[in-house]
Amino acid sequence: MTRYLITSALPYINGVKHLGNLVGSMLPADVSARYLRLRGEEVLYICATDEHGTPAELAARDAGLDVAEFCRINHEVQRDLGERFGLSFDHFGRTSNPANHELTQHFAARLDAEGYLEERVIRQIYSNADGRFLPDRYIQGTCPYCGFEKARGDQCENCTRQLDPTMLLSPRSAITGSTDLEERESRHLYLLQSRLSDRLREWLESKVGDWPTLATSIGLKWLDEGLDDRGITRDLSWGVPVDRPGFEGKVFYVWFDAPIGYISATREWAEAAPDGQRDWESWWRLDRGADDVVYTEFMAKDNVPFHTVGFPATLIGSGEPWRLVDRLKSFNWLNYYGGKFSTSEHRGVFMGDALELLDADYWRWYLMANAPESDDTSFTWEQFAEAVNKDLVGTLGNFVNRCAVQVTRHFDGVVPSGGEVGDEERALVERLGVIVNEYNGFLDGLEFRKAAQALRALWAEGNVYLEAREPWRAIKSDRDLAAMTLRTALGVVRLHAHLSSPFIPSTSERIAATLPDTSELLGVGPELATSVLDLDPGARFVAPDLLFQKLDDDLVASWEKRFGS
Ligand code: MF3
Ligand code: ZN
Repeated sequence: MTRYLITSALPYINGVKHLGNLVGSMLPADVSARYLRLRGEEVLYICATDEHGTPAELAARDAGLDVAEFCRINHEVQRDLGERFGLSFDHFGRTSNPANHELTQHFAARLDAEGYLEERVIRQIYSNADGRFLPDRYIQGTCPYCGFEKARGDQCENCTRQLDPTMLLSPRSAITGSTDLEERESRHLYLLQSRLSDRLREWLESKVGDWPTLATSIGLKWLDEGLDDRGITRDLSWGVPVDRPGFEGKVFYVWFDAPIGYISATREWAEAAPDGQRDWESWWRLDRGADDVVYTEFMAKDNVPFHTVGFPATLIGSGEPWRLVDRLKSFNWLNYYGGKFSTSEHRGVFMGDALELLDADYWRWYLMANAPESDDTSFTWEQFAEAVNKDLVGTLGNFVNRCAVQVTRHFDGVVPSGGEVGDEERALVERLGVIVNEYNGFLDGLEFRKAAQALRALWAEGNVYLEAREPWRAIKSDRDLAAMTLRTALGVVRLHAHLSSPFIPSTSERIAATLPDTSELLGVGPELATSVLDLDPGARFVAPDLLFQKLDDDLVASWEKRFGS
């Protein structure tokens, strides 16, 4: 039987993630994990905080904290937010943990043994005022390509080009602003990716047509441009130490150790089992049973090169039989009113802010229904309110509420008995079956917007059915018909609770709690549609409190004002 391994790009530790980060990695991974569990599959969903590198050190500095302490605190903040967003990680690890140190050193040793590492002495920027080398983000200057004055040593945020610190014009220290810089020699390890290029290409070309074009084309473009050998060590103290003479005070580059974090967090998951019965290697190593694993990675597009080239180079180059990614789902950007969400400028809506305003399901629904799958999309408060008001309040909430009112008023809150099903019900079952099938197909294919559309259509069927049978009218002339209608409608409510759980898990639970026998529904097959006719009469129905709050114009305007637009 197939087992499903799922990872979402590891969020950087440097601050609370914004909605754009969430929708491009963790949230769709969660929807997929929940869907597969609903289908009855064995799923392992792994994530962690990405804690090394200059962003972590600089953020700790800004916060006036020692970097280890900063990471400890912020890991906890992110873990808590993830939990409150309903992200159902099987394990949420940390790349600074011992497991990741060990595995990172293991991979470096393997790559070395296979002849893919080389020591090189290179010229690096040294700051006299700071008394240290300035790798990556420790240095700022003018981008040689676009003239942006605040480009960082590793990348220009304006034109997104990858840079090397020595390329910056008018460079200065990001710590002190000092321009008293010089080039000095420093010894580093290089991963000879160029020698792995053919094997990477062969592997990546086998994914063309299978993965989103965005993913294969970004990876192949890198290969076409010719893979540069990549420096995988840095002159920093925070990170995984390089266990090698002449490398004292150096650590591995964050992009080398971070993806290895997927594996080490799986190992942490196994080690956390009280009975020691979990086997992490069976998820990752082909020689330990991982041949029945389908491994899916979720990430935003800027991460694609590291997952189609960088990480696979580490795995393939190790000479060991590691499972490579089978399905890679990448996302475009979610913008904030056409501009970028920005962590450094605190522009947009962040996970913590979002939960202050509304429960997770409002955000989960809006974000997934508008996920930037084929293009960049923009968050706007109007669009958010519209999705909430139309879909959650007007369609799902309205349907459940109408059922609740009728059943409470006319049947004393008991699932009504009596009445024979007729053509209307048979037609309903048929329509539901078609939609359920589509919904599954889209989720199997990782097409989240379309899956959300199908779910919305499923919700709408409840209202269509009520309007066709008009139980509020029938109650006066044909009580049996009204009873049968409402019993069927409650069956639809139960179906909604079941199938909506990947997108809006806590609302699903609340709806499920209104009925006694929701646990009878299993799987995701189209045969679920007939379950709407199977609800046992006589059971108690407990009307839920208001499921969703309508977002009126004043409220939306106040948020727009508070967050900027
Ligand atoms: N921390 C990176 C980011 O936020 C993602 C790391 S993904 C991993 O863009 F592969 F390195 F884990
Ligand atoms: Zn630039």
